[in-house]
Amino acid sequence: MIYAANFKTNHTRKSTENYIVELNEKLRAKHPEDKVYIFPPATALNDYEGDFTIGTQNAYAAHNGAYTGEIGLEQLDEFGIKTILIGHSERREYMAETQEKAAAKFSFFQKQDFEIIYCIGEPLEIREKGFEAVMQYLLAQFEGIDIGYDKLIVAYEPIWAIGTGRSATVEEISTTHRALKKAINDKPLLYGGSVKPANIKEITSIAGVDGVLVGSASLDVESFSQMVLS
Ligand code: PGA
Repeated sequence: MIYAANFKTNHTRKSTENYIVELNEKLRAKHPEDKVYIFPPATALNDYEGDFTIGTQNAYAAHNGAYTGEIGLEQLDEFGIKTILIGHSERREYMAETQEKAAAKFSFFQKQDFEIIYCIGEPLEIREKGFEAVMQYLLAQFEGIDIGYDKLIVAYEPIWAIGTGRSATVEEISTTHRALKKAINDKPLLYGGSVKPANIKEITSIAGVDGVLVGSASLDVESFSQMVLS
């Protein structure tokens, strides 16, 4: 299983350091085949050592240059970061990242041999239209994306389940993952959206779920490690 923690705009450099120290303690009990990823805010990126991978929540598709407020490859290289989240619904919505931009970012970081966790997900009004509408919406988020890329991990995160406390049902996750797995040639597929210690087992037991991307419930190291060790 893959357990990925997305801190979003939470934690500082100092609190991330403390988190990593505690996480390392907890991860001694981790199953060797499980993989852990931590996506701290950009100011907390560092070359931390441990049985996990540090990734960036975002970056600009450039080595360096005049892109005020952004970080590029040069800043990631400093800390040996080779993993990135692309296409998260919050970036699509609040930062107006279009499919075209997400695809351009994807190809840039693919060329740099990054491991890419590529996020897709539908809003509630699409889910309410039924399964066919959901699949059509999700598949459109692969436009311009090379699904043959060997360092691709996909994360399915229904927008209505993110940060709401209401995860998708086992049935919804199961049918969506089954269809997505076919579409992405069996690439690793994570579920995200209100994953927490109380539902981790239920979610990771679903066929077609290769791991989870966790926001709110990953902020507390106790809660996140409980899920990793579940
Ligand atoms: P959540 O966020 O766990 O707080 O629902 C998940 C995500 O956005 O990756």
